[in-house]
Amino acid sequence: MTHRLALIGFGTVGQALTEILQDKKEELLMGEGLDVQITAVADPIKGCLYHPEGLDTGELLRQVEERGNLDQYPDSPGLERGWDSFRTIRESNADTVIEVSYTDGKTGQPAIDHCKAAFESGKNVVMTNKGPVALAYRELSLLAECHGVRWGFEGTVMSGTPTLRLARSALRGNEITRIRGIFNGTTNFILARMEDGIPFGEALVEAQKQGIAEADPTSDMDGTDVLFKVLILSQVVLGVPLDRDQVECRGIRSLSGTEVQRARQGGKRWKLLGQLQREGKRVTASVQPVLLPLSDPLAGVTGTMNAVTYQCDLAGPVTLVGAGAGRKETGYALLSDLLHMVKGHP
Ligand SMILES: NC(=O)c1ccc[n+]([C@@H]2O[C@H](COP(=O)([O-])OP(=O)(O)OC[C@H]3O[C@@H](n4cnc5c(N)ncnc54)[C@H](OP(=O)(O)O)[C@@H]3O)[C@@H](O)[C@H]2O)c1
Repeated sequence: MTHRLALIGFGTVGQALTEILQDKKEELLMGEGLDVQITAVADPIKGCLYHPEGLDTGELLRQVEERGNLDQYPDSPGLERGWDSFRTIRESNADTVIEVSYTDGKTGQPAIDHCKAAFESGKNVVMTNKGPVALAYRELSLLAECHGVRWGFEGTVMSGTPTLRLARSALRGNEITRIRGIFNGTTNFILARMEDGIPFGEALVEAQKQGIAEADPTSDMDGTDVLFKVLILSQVVLGVPLDRDQVECRGIRSLSGTEVQRARQGGKRWKLLGQLQREGKRVTASVQPVLLPLSDPLAGVTGTMNAVTYQCDLAGPVTLVGAGAGRKETGYALLSDLLHMVKGHP
């Protein structure tokens, strides 16, 4: 059976998913029985297109690569142009909305309203946008349940590295009492460069030149990006909602190059950690630089890599290391959610 998608946002991750679906079309059909069709794309600058019988993925990618927008996508009978994101969500024939618009660090909008519109229209949502999961998890998961649809957001923490699914599925039966992790590749890269003697400012510029850091690096540097992941882990893995003002949050700007190098000389390493500790029904959490001995598995995670350690009552500490961002990796996170959803797996 064909599964139809509407992409809300056609930036890096939306295009990556389109490319994966195109490149793996045969494998997904033969190996997984998944026949996916993109019927709508809505992006405020690149353009909005809807065709109930499906859009041509090769043409979508070609247009956006060559022109930066979808204005010259060829006309055909039944093609609609210019619908906005909400009309696309409500009126397209998509089974699942792929929400890959930007993450708003203050309000989570318009992504939260995109999710509500999708659930109320009987559509599933799969997303990598952290805002709605960090800020409106309870309300949105109840709404999805009430409308009998599913909500996938694996890529919101450590992108294609299956962090949430490991805890919720593979480690089922354990009580997870503590979570510690490196959840931001940009700051991890900068700390490694500072260990090499490069000043913070120069390391940041280097990260920007390599496409690792965003042009506006504020949410990475001040710890907000990790804070959102901590809020998601608390709610989704530990089952305890936290407000952002309950989490002590400090980024890496407070660390001096001297401190970082002194740690290295003393056989230790600074890492920006997201940490959560559960005691009964209470969770305490923080985001801050922490000095780790080299024997800690998280100390060996360098460059842009991310990692999480789940402290389990039965399995003991379980550490997962992998990419925390990236075009293909994050596109894969969406595919992984789609496969689980279509097969009825958690
Ligand atoms: N890239 C990664 O490695 C990664 C990893 C994990 C999670 N994420 C999350 O995944 C999401 C997508 O990331 P990305 O890297 O693809 O970002 P991106 O390249 O900036 O793409 C976001 C797209 O959303 C569009 N957009 C903005 N407002 C919109 C609206 N109201 N309705 C529909 N589309 C809208 C933007 O349009 P214009 O630019 O045309 O205005 C842009 O094309 C973000 O929430 C991000 O935080 C990304």
